[in-house]
Amino acid sequence: MTDPVDYFGAPVAASYDDDSDLRFSEEHLALESGFLAELAGERGRALELAIGTGRVALPLAARGVSVHGIDLSEAMVARLRAKPGGAEIPVEIGDFSTALAGVGLEGEFDLVYLVFNTIGNVASQDGQVATFANAARHLRPGGCFVVETGVPGVLWAQPDHRYRVFSHTDAHHGIDEYDPVTQLMWSHHYTRGEDGSYGRNSVPFRYAWPAELDLMARLAGMRLRERWEWWDRTPFTADSESHVSVWEKE
Ligand SMILES: C[S@@+](CC[C@H](N)C(=O)[O-])C[C@H]1O[C@@H](n2cnc3c(N)ncnc32)[C@H](O)[C@@H]1O
Repeated sequence: MTDPVDYFGAPVAASYDDDSDLRFSEEHLALESGFLAELAGERGRALELAIGTGRVALPLAARGVSVHGIDLSEAMVARLRAKPGGAEIPVEIGDFSTALAGVGLEGEFDLVYLVFNTIGNVASQDGQVATFANAARHLRPGGCFVVETGVPGVLWAQPDHRYRVFSHTDAHHGIDEYDPVTQLMWSHHYTRGEDGSYGRNSVPFRYAWPAELDLMARLAGMRLRERWEWWDRTPFTADSESHVSVWEKE
């Protein structure tokens, strides 16, 4: 396994929460944190892998759940710590596929979760398998691991299954580039700067079908309990472009 690259340094962290994605809306955060709080249980303990700036962790903590986090990026975590309530959330800086949330915390969590497509940031199968094992290591028996991520978009790509344009405006062009051999997808963002020229930022993701993730969960001693298309429990179907999956530790 190679060391993960930090794609969320200071420039990305500075504008991370200004995103227009619906996941940042209050209405959505009430839905997502409500889903997670039900699984954590009253006064439960939850661990967010890739806690970032606390987009989800803070509303979840506001519901009475004791939230801990792991993240690679000092800059993202500095943003979390600067928010009201953020400094009280214990965060371990490290790679969530291997790092322990803290001394004595193995088997201590009711819920571990990894959302917003971030399982794909782990760009190798070994790394993703290790992530499931690390989630299971933190859970008590009966505790749950939740992953929210996209269904591989390779099916919706152009007929050669290589490229998919997901954004096409004057300010931003976004193209996902698939390699079905390595199961890597490079997400290319071309963003217009103030001088009118475009800068490129390309980030690799490893895409995996839900069934492969189920197998990773089985290897880690967990079984699928629920799978939805979205946090509002829309049923998962052949047309779903995302999934929210819940595995339970045996
Ligand atoms: C898209 S953000 C998601 C942040 C937060 N979970 C949310 O939903 O807003 C991805 C986060 O994953 C973190 N990350 C990516 N790979 C990581 C790894 N291997 N170990 C720890 N953190 C990682 C990044 O630093 C970043 O904060």
